[in-house]
Amino acid sequence: MSEQIFYPNPEFAKDARIPSMEAYWELQNRAIEDYEGFWKGFADDKIDWLEPYDTILDESNAPFYKWFSNGKLNVSNQCIDRHLADKADQNAIIFEGDNGDVKHITYSQLSEHVNKMANLLKNKFGVKKGDRVVLYMPMIPEATYAMLACSRIGAIHSIVFGGFSADALRDRIEDAEAKIVITADGAFRKGKPYMLKNVVDDALESGCESIEAVLVVKRNHEEIKWVEGRDYSYNELIDAESTECPFEPMDSEDPLFLLYTSGSTGKPKGVQHSTAGYILWAQMTMEWVFDLRKDDVFWCTADIGWITGHTYIVYGPLSAGGTTVMFEGVPTYPDAGRAWKMVQEHNITQFYTAPTLIRLLHKVGEDEPEKYDLSTLRVLGTVGEPIDPPAWKWYYEAIGKSRCSIVDTYWQTETGGHVISPLPGATPIKPACATFALPGIIAEVMEEDGTPTPVGEKGFMCITRPWPSMIRTIWNDPERFKKSYFGDCKKDGEPVYFTGDGAMVDKDGYITITGRTDDVLNVSGHRIGTAEIESAIKHVSSVAVSAVVGKPHEIKGEEVFAYIVLKEEGLSADEVKAEINSVIKKEIGAIALCDEVVIVPDVPKTRSGKIMRRILRSIAKGEEITQDTSTLEDPSIVPTIEKIVNSRG
Ligand code: WTA
Repeated sequence: MSEQIFYPNPEFAKDARIPSMEAYWELQNRAIEDYEGFWKGFADDKIDWLEPYDTILDESNAPFYKWFSNGKLNVSNQCIDRHLADKADQNAIIFEGDNGDVKHITYSQLSEHVNKMANLLKNKFGVKKGDRVVLYMPMIPEATYAMLACSRIGAIHSIVFGGFSADALRDRIEDAEAKIVITADGAFRKGKPYMLKNVVDDALESGCESIEAVLVVKRNHEEIKWVEGRDYSYNELIDAESTECPFEPMDSEDPLFLLYTSGSTGKPKGVQHSTAGYILWAQMTMEWVFDLRKDDVFWCTADIGWITGHTYIVYGPLSAGGTTVMFEGVPTYPDAGRAWKMVQEHNITQFYTAPTLIRLLHKVGEDEPEKYDLSTLRVLGTVGEPIDPPAWKWYYEAIGKSRCSIVDTYWQTETGGHVISPLPGATPIKPACATFALPGIIAEVMEEDGTPTPVGEKGFMCITRPWPSMIRTIWNDPERFKKSYFGDCKKDGEPVYFTGDGAMVDKDGYITITGRTDDVLNVSGHRIGTAEIESAIKHVSSVAVSAVVGKPHEIKGEEVFAYIVLKEEGLSADEVKAEINSVIKKEIGAIALCDEVVIVPDVPKTRSGKIMRRILRSIAKGEEITQDTSTLEDPSIVPTIEKIVNSRG
């Protein structure tokens, strides 16, 4: 079958930062031949070092790698101060509220806000270098000020996505032993107010001994509970603070932030990122993958509660001196043309979103893009899950007008920034394919023993050399860090970083990501562990056993499908579903609700008691069972479950 290849628009390519595959290979070969020299060149060029580093890469305590040891820098200087000389009046942030109110925040205004907030944290709340600050915030500019204020004084932020429940927030606050929570009364979504502060109240009522104060930003002005001596109003306090707060010189390896993400056990992992390596790659990928330039207006639709929001709403665009768009609402409100209207109104040049949103906007508003002028767009991006060819094609034709490159960026919370992605001015694109490792990233699809997986077959997506923006450790759990990422695949006898994803290389060397090989789901671009959902379901008294798997879904990518064994017969699947979902909502949040629940007499287990999720996954998908079931404790359970699943309406 002949494949269609989409070449970069020559007009665009001619001025692109990486303008051809020759230029790509020149860079990548340089990295292969002199890995440390390659990174040194960019670190020296891109980072405003306050004190020089003495080692480029320290591998002496692998896999706890260190980059640019003993160098000193500050990320808020990197994102703000150093731009002030020539960008003071350029927009740093364009904020659009749910109701369409727009605020432009220049670099000099951003500087004032961040300095004031840094002073407030430092002077009023005694936040110091190394302290953890939890942010439970809506998509408003103050969330960005808070992130940068933390980085200015050396505090470590940990953002908890606003869709997580009070219990999930509490667990994350407690694991990080945070000193303060920054939140808002709430915000607006689809024309209506929603609340956040009450979730913080609930979290703090059930624990969180380490929390000394809650700083509350006003957004929707709804009534909230107020605990005297604990709760403080940002809006009342902030104006008393000075607009000058000297930035703290931070070591390259000082943690910049923690971000909790799902793994294969019930407990989320506090992914710890570094200062220098992270910011370096955030800026480099911004420049290479989005080809960001002066006067560009970049819009990433993610929430700041996820890594995509960290790197490509805040740290990447601002370190690269760009203008970043922050949107409070949802792109389908008031209609499915909202996103395209925003592209027109703000002259957006790069648009970055998740395949789930592309599928949704395609389905509910196929003709909407026609109503708007999208001619400012140059690069379109996708992230978070594999994109399917029909969605890719609509994105390319209806939004990009067959003129913009689509960068299908593959990466993870743990990688800090993109690792495998087309370059918009260089890479001939095969639709729905992440293509090649970026220059400086040495990635291989391999078998567990390090041998290359044959062309066209599925293998493990590994990164075989440490890179600057990689995860440094799991907060409080270095052993889990080693086990989670450096246990599965070895090359030349040495463990290498395993992403948890499967991938395939084709005859031309193109890499296609085939999805997780572990029990992590991707629901509407949100990463959720099945073990987390199962451990929430354990709180439902009528349930004896649960097994959660992912099932492909037209819009969401995957949906949550639960097999339930009851302690006693009698409840209907709908009743059980309602009970389970109310517990999941409390324990995790609405993002992890089960879409389908089936009651089964038992689940397939091996003789040692391990649940065979692969079989359950195949049944949920309606696939024929090809796995060997003879090793099961009770092979007859497989056709029984198949019958139950298939007989539902
Ligand atoms: C998946 C999001 C296919 C993958 C940045 C990965 C992708 C997980 C892609 C990380 C892509 C991300 N194609 N799959 N372009 N990008 N993924 O930590 O399974 O929220 O491991 O980071 O999303 O999700 P996370």
